[in-house]
Amino acid sequence: MTAKTIAFSNHKGGVAKTSLSVNIADALARDGYSVLFVDLDPQGNGTQLVYGYDETPAITVEQVLAGKESIAAAIVDKTQIPGVSLIGATLKLARLERDLQLTPFASTSILLTKLQSVRDVFDVIILDTPPALSFLTANALAAADCVFVPVESGSKLALVGTDDMLEFVSQAKTVNPRLKLGGAVLTKHDGRKKLCKITQAVIGDYFDTVLGHVLPQSADIGKSQAVGQTVLQYDRECTASREVVEIAREIATIAGLTKEAAE
Ligand SMILES: Nc1ncnc2c1ncn2[C@@H]1O[C@H](COP(=O)(O)OP(=O)(O)O)[C@@H](O)[C@H]1O
Ligand SMILES: [Mg+2]
Repeated sequence: MTAKTIAFSNHKGGVAKTSLSVNIADALARDGYSVLFVDLDPQGNGTQLVYGYDETPAITVEQVLAGKESIAAAIVDKTQIPGVSLIGATLKLARLERDLQLTPFASTSILLTKLQSVRDVFDVIILDTPPALSFLTANALAAADCVFVPVESGSKLALVGTDDMLEFVSQAKTVNPRLKLGGAVLTKHDGRKKLCKITQAVIGDYFDTVLGHVLPQSADIGKSQAVGQTVLQYDRECTASREVVEIAREIATIAGLTKEAAE
């Protein structure tokens, strides 16, 4: 049995990649999947949301990618989110990325190779990626079975640059034929706003698959993050929480997740 690996990617910043990946990790864990969250963004926002703001894990992903620590050593099982284990990131990941890029024959399959040994321990591995079509994002897509693209609704530039993202996914498929474009997820959506309606109307022109459920524009997302919680921990009944649960189920179906990891 092997975990499915799911990446959330978009080279635009602020589109809710991290918010979505953390909250989907929580929703999947609540649905009974054993989840590993891997932060590949040197900003470490995902690490803070999963592990807490006060400390960083002693061993983080850059040491694993550099071959200095084993992946098992980097996995933190006790996080703020029950059922979600973490491999965190710190700003040092930015430096490692630069160093690796300067290395002849630097490989986009480093992450894939490292994850192999833990794929039978989890049902799903979630990869949060940086806002760039970079070496780290290439490593994420080389390791992923499925990539979802969060798209910020109502932003005039929401879909500008989609071609670059899709071209990057195509290139990733040449090294990773397993990779499937799971689809776009509309985020920060406010159905009352004209620009949001426009984004929703045209997004299907850019993506073959668009998830039926959207992450609404919601103050509860920001408020939950301010107190170090997922939105489901903050208020299980709010609209954003209900949508997160449904998005997670769509993702589970599209990515073909199964619950097999041993307890
Ligand atoms: N659905 C939402 N409604 C309102 N604010 C949101 C929503 N999703 C994310 N945000 C806020 O938008 C900002 C960027 O989100 P983040 O998940 O960090 O994006 P990314 O990882 O793509 O850079 C954060 O301040 C976050 O709290
Ligand atoms: Mg982020």
